[in-house]
Amino acid sequence: MKSVSDASAVKAPVLPNAQTVLDVKHWTDSLFSFKVSRPASLRFRSGEFVMIGLLGDNGKPLLRAYSIASPSWDDELEFYSIKVQDGPLTSKLQHIKPGDQIILRPKPVGTLVHDALLPGKRLWFFATGTGFAPFASLLREPQTYEDYDEVIITHTCREVAELEYGRRLIDDIKQDEMLAELMGADFHKKIRYYPTTTREESPKMGRITTLLKDGTVFRDLGIDGIAPESDRAMVCGSLAFNHDIKDILEEFGLREGANSEPKEFVIEKAFVG
Ligand code: A2P
Repeated sequence: MKSVSDASAVKAPVLPNAQTVLDVKHWTDSLFSFKVSRPASLRFRSGEFVMIGLLGDNGKPLLRAYSIASPSWDDELEFYSIKVQDGPLTSKLQHIKPGDQIILRPKPVGTLVHDALLPGKRLWFFATGTGFAPFASLLREPQTYEDYDEVIITHTCREVAELEYGRRLIDDIKQDEMLAELMGADFHKKIRYYPTTTREESPKMGRITTLLKDGTVFRDLGIDGIAPESDRAMVCGSLAFNHDIKDILEEFGLREGANSEPKEFVIEKAFVG
């Protein structure tokens, strides 16, 4: 005979690989970030992504690839997401609250990892929109500062408010005493942040691709340019953005690498719900 508690356990939806939502922040009408518990067994390299999601209406898991925005040493897992009102997953995911559960498949993969780049002096992170997420992880990863003298993060969004998650994260990194202890007091002096907007007035307007091609970025940052001997790059944005940046980096003489064959730059698509 079943007890009452057995009966309720049978009725409750059973989420495979369930993790608990710990915190949710809404940045704009179309952007939010959230933290979930980390499975004890999950090991990942900063910059990788996992599949996360919810149960769909048909009772089957509805999963999408999400870059882990938190660094590999953190106890919690952070994600940064768009909200698509008629998107199968994000139309629901945007309503999660602390205490809710999500599905997280603990199989991290991805190319935006230090292992996929040859040693260099200067590391570029090129992001558009939620493509900032893997760099939120890598900017808090000690190896980033151990391996490079300078880290330039460019973030291009349509509007100023869409830059806020990244801007706040970089401000927080610069003031974080635990990170300073972990990475050395001066580590944050290596970070150069270059935000641009394309559809709302801001101090720096324009697509990063245009600003690279006409030399504005280099003039603004006081550097000569991008060279295969010294510069490495990681790219995460829309398909069109990734394609255009790839062409630019190749014109500078950089070659696309992979985990199995490290070279001078790597690319990952920004995943949408
Ligand atoms: P733009 O406003 O000129 O399209 P989206 O929201 O469409 O993913 O775009 C995010 C940001 O990336 C926007 O600022 C957008 O600029 C920019 N962007 C989109 N496609 C490209 C591209 N092919 N090259 C450079 N920037 C791009």
